[in-house]
Amino acid sequence: MAAASTDSTPSVNKAWVYSEYGKSADVLKLDPNVPVPEIKEDQVLIKVVAAALNPIDYKRMFGYIKATDSPLPTVPGYDVAGVVVKVGSQVTKFKVGDEVYGDLNEKAAQPKKFGSLAEYTAAEERVLALKPKNLSFVEAASLPLAIETAYEGLERTEFSAGKSILVLGGAGGLAKHVFGASKVAATASTRKLELLRSLGADLAVDYTKEKFEELPEKFDVVYDTVGESDRAVKAVKEGGKVVTIVSGPAAPPAVHFVLTSTGTVLEKLKPYLEGGKVKPVLDPTSPYPFSKTVEAFAYLETSRATGKDNFKDLPEKFDVVYDAVGQSDRAVKAVKKGGEGCDSGRPNNTTSLHVYADFYGSILEKLNPYLESGKVKAVIDPNGPYPFSKNLEAFAYLQASSRAIGKVVVYPIPSP
Ligand SMILES: NC(=O)c1ccc[n+]([C@@H]2O[C@H](COP(=O)([O-])OP(=O)(O)OC[C@H]3O[C@@H](n4cnc5c(N)ncnc54)[C@H](OP(=O)(O)O)[C@@H]3O)[C@@H](O)[C@H]2O)c1
Repeated sequence: MAAASTDSTPSVNKAWVYSEYGKSADVLKLDPNVPVPEIKEDQVLIKVVAAALNPIDYKRMFGYIKATDSPLPTVPGYDVAGVVVKVGSQVTKFKVGDEVYGDLNEKAAQPKKFGSLAEYTAAEERVLALKPKNLSFVEAASLPLAIETAYEGLERTEFSAGKSILVLGGAGGLAKHVFGASKVAATASTRKLELLRSLGADLAVDYTKEKFEELPEKFDVVYDTVGESDRAVKAVKEGGKVVTIVSGPAAPPAVHFVLTSTGTVLEKLKPYLEGGKVKPVLDPTSPYPFSKTVEAFAYLETSRATGKDNFKDLPEKFDVVYDAVGQSDRAVKAVKKGGEGCDSGRPNNTTSLHVYADFYGSILEKLNPYLESGKVKAVIDPNGPYPFSKNLEAFAYLQASSRAIGKVVVYPIPSP
């Protein structure tokens, strides 16, 4: 049986594509002539309205999962919200015109070639659900991968009503409102503590000031989203469970899993989403227009906070721009003609350098008078100093550098 469709589906569409692995600024290009994917019998074709980015998108673009990735070129994007414009012959749940959302990739580490950063994308009906009516497309796109991961992790720990949980780097809204947790504690940096409480946390722990493993109470479950399973195991009750979603060795008894995307979880959560108990959290910089997808990736990749994009609009240019955060492509736009930048592209006759520090004592000697007079000062992280025995924790703190406040959404995706 032929697929049912609207007449107006074009044969090609605009899509963001990369043909080699690397940073988004170097490899991600907008291609106006990418063939619209053919759908299989169990798939629908979606006119994308909003797509959201997740850390897996840039990790994949860096080549971290190349062993199991689909062959290049790739249209990135896992999370999608949009309208069904064509249905395969075996599709029973959806019809043309339905508003749907989901994570396109059933197996996160084996993603499809054709993702959601395009005008059209294809998905199996089993990874989709009808969009809750109260959510905008932007809000809906922000949810699937994150909320399904949270749900699967709680199921894997056999979480149930009356149990307590500590969530590292998350709010615990699902544990509280869907699973009936007796107590939810969650960690975040200072500026996000209020957000945690508003999402359901009974105890918001500022990880820049407190060590969660030194809390007076222990928890039935610790859910680690930041890669601190070695410390997480110290915060769990005897016989409790620790689950981590960050790849790398999990400290036993912590277990690591990789999400399996399914629309069933979204269907189960529909009443909680429609009732407003479980809420989407959008990053304040969102939504990014489709044309600014590279900027959206750069924000997620460099993990910068709000306001980071402003410097490119400064009226003034500078003789020297010193880039300590890996934004040399943008730094060169802030340098005077003939000044010192730090990019291999070298527009405006700038020179650019990449330097490694040489640790000469003579430099310290030169700086001694300035240090002694207090003109140049040392800045110590509020989390430190770590005792020698806590070296691993110090490294873990340094590595956990992600700072996004919520999901980074791309919207609207333009019509052809
Ligand atoms: N295994 C899977 O199936 C799976 C699924 C989804 C995600 N993941 C992985 O899980 C990780 C998190 O994903 P995400 O989407 O939540 O990332 P994200 O949107 O980039 O958020 C990271 C959050 O972690 C917080 N954070 C950073 N260091 C922290 C610390 N030491 N303690 C507490 N919070 C900290 C940041 O908040 P602050 O500004 O407060 O620091 C930020 O809000 C990523 O590595 C991702 O690849 C794995």
